[in-house]
Amino acid sequence: MKKVLVTGCLGQIGSELVARLREDLGIENVIATDIRRPEGDPTVEGGMFEVLDVMDREAMNHLAQSYEVDTLIHLAALLSAVAEAKPQMGWELNMGGLVNALEVARENNLKFFTPSSIGAFGPNTPKDNTPQDTIQRPTTMYGVTKVAGELLCDYYYTKFGVDTRGVRFPGLISYKTLPGGGTTDYAVDIYYEAIKNKTYECFIKEGTAMDMMYMPDAIDAIVQLMNADPEKLIHRNAFNISAMSFEPEEIKKSIQKVMPEFTMSYNVDPVRQGIADSWPNAIDSTCAKEEWGFAPKYDLDAMTRDMLAKLTEKLMATI
Ligand code: SER
Repeated sequence: MKKVLVTGCLGQIGSELVARLREDLGIENVIATDIRRPEGDPTVEGGMFEVLDVMDREAMNHLAQSYEVDTLIHLAALLSAVAEAKPQMGWELNMGGLVNALEVARENNLKFFTPSSIGAFGPNTPKDNTPQDTIQRPTTMYGVTKVAGELLCDYYYTKFGVDTRGVRFPGLISYKTLPGGGTTDYAVDIYYEAIKNKTYECFIKEGTAMDMMYMPDAIDAIVQLMNADPEKLIHRNAFNISAMSFEPEEIKKSIQKVMPEFTMSYNVDPVRQGIADSWPNAIDSTCAKEEWGFAPKYDLDAMTRDMLAKLTEKLMATI
C-alpha cells in the first residue's frame, strides 16, 4: 500500500483513516474522495481531495488511473438504520458502489479493502462467541448488502485474483466525526450528552449487548490488515473483529466512574432495537488475531476516559 484512493472520506471511518494514511504514506499518496466537498473540512483541505460519486464507475476508474494508485479503500455506504428506512437506495448504493469499486480494483490490479459489519449476521447466527464462519442470514437490507459484499470479495479474489481484504466492524466509537444513522450510534451519542447535559435517553433497551470498538483500534486494524502478508490470509471476505461487548447499563456505569452524577433513562426505538436484537452479543476475533495479529488496545473504561477527555476539549472549543 503506497498510494491509495479512498471513497466515502467524510464519513466516520474515512475522516480518521485519511488523516492516518496522510501521516503514514505522505500527503501526496492519499487521494481522498466523497460525494460532496464541504469548505473548511480538514479532510478536504488537508491534502488531495476529489469529488466522486461511487455510482459513477468511469469517474472512479479515471481517478485510479490518473493518480496511479496501487490500493483502493472503499468506504462509501449507508449504515443500518438509514438503509432500513430506504432499502432500495441501500441496495443500490451499497451494492452498486461496491461492484464499481471491485471492478476498478480488478481492471487496475489494486489491493482492495472494504468494511463488512456485525450486521452481516442475523437472528439464527450463534449469539455468543460468534464464529468467523457461521450462519449469515441477516434480516436487514444493510445486512443483506454486507453478506452479498463479503461473497463478492471472495469471488473477486478466487475468480480474478484481486487482493481483497475486509473486516466485520462492530459499533465504532469516536469523538471526531459522528456516525450517520447506525444502530450502535447510542454508544457515541451517550458521551456527547454526558458532557452537554449529564444525562442520556437511550434508544436501545437495557440488556442488549453488542460488540464495539474505539476508533484508534479500528484505524490500526485497517492499516495492519492492509500491510499483512497475503500468504497468511485465509479469509478474503471479512474478519470478525471486536474490542469489547457491552449493554447500555455497562457503558452508563463506565461513564459514572468518571462522572458520578451522570444518569440514563430509556426511550426505546423499535426499529433500531429490532436491528440490535438480530445481531450477535459478542463475536469471536480469533481468526483475525491468528492470521494478521489483530490486537485492540482499548477496553470500555480506557475508551470512556479518553472519549470524555477528548470530547470535553472539542466541545469547549466550539463554545
Ligand atoms: N455501526 C453499524 C451500524 O450500526 C454497524 O456496522 O449500522
